Amino acid sequence: MNKGLFITLEGPDGSGKTTIATAIVKKLEEQGWEVVHTREPGGVRIAEEIRNVILDPENTEMDVKTEALLYAASRRQHLTEKVIPALRENKVVLCERFLDSSLAYQGFGREIGFDAVYEINRFAIGSYMPDLTLYLDIDEEKGLERIKDRSFKDRLDVESVAFHHRVVQGYKEVLKRFPERIRIVNADQTVEEVLHDCMQIIEEALNGDR
Ligand code: TMP
Repeated sequence: MNKGLFITLEGPDGSGKTTIATAIVKKLEEQGWEVVHTREPGGVRIAEEIRNVILDPENTEMDVKTEALLYAASRRQHLTEKVIPALRENKVVLCERFLDSSLAYQGFGREIGFDAVYEINRFAIGSYMPDLTLYLDIDEEKGLERIKDRSFKDRLDVESVAFHHRVVQGYKEVLKRFPERIRIVNADQTVEEVLHDCMQIIEEALNGDR
């Protein structure tokens, strides 16, 4: 049985996940929680290697189903090697991106469809789902504006505006499917404000009945 709390952070590119995750971890640690901050794709050696293959801008010939399977494979490795052991040790796991990213990016962005992507991910993760997901809500133009000056752009960053638009529409569909697990946070605010809103939701989950 899980004793810890599995929190995921979702949102389109440029929604500020890493900045907010780092600030959340600092707050939780100040409150005495043991926190594992991690990310997908990646987080452990094998999954980071898969990440490099998926995001390499040179890999232009990658088939969309290959891409979806690689995300699911990296998810499986990261989950079994890092997330599940940490939850068993009663830690809080804060993971940037998880299943919902595949549903939005591969299901809708790549147009494979929700059901097909959900199915391969059920194989990858079994019954493991996040206890809580925070969705950093920002429209795709603002998100892309925020990342436009990044020195390194990966294979998905350089996708068309139409692709990123489908991703955001996809996330809206995902929000409708999992209304109890996913909480929406307005990411078009200052870092302090976004952090404040996230902490309110997380503290509620940590202090509630689990
Ligand atoms: P990051 O920039 O948040 O580290 O994520 C890398 C890219 O991978 C980002 O553009 C979103 C994408 N992605 C998917 O397309 N599907 C997935 O399942 C995950 C976890 C990420």
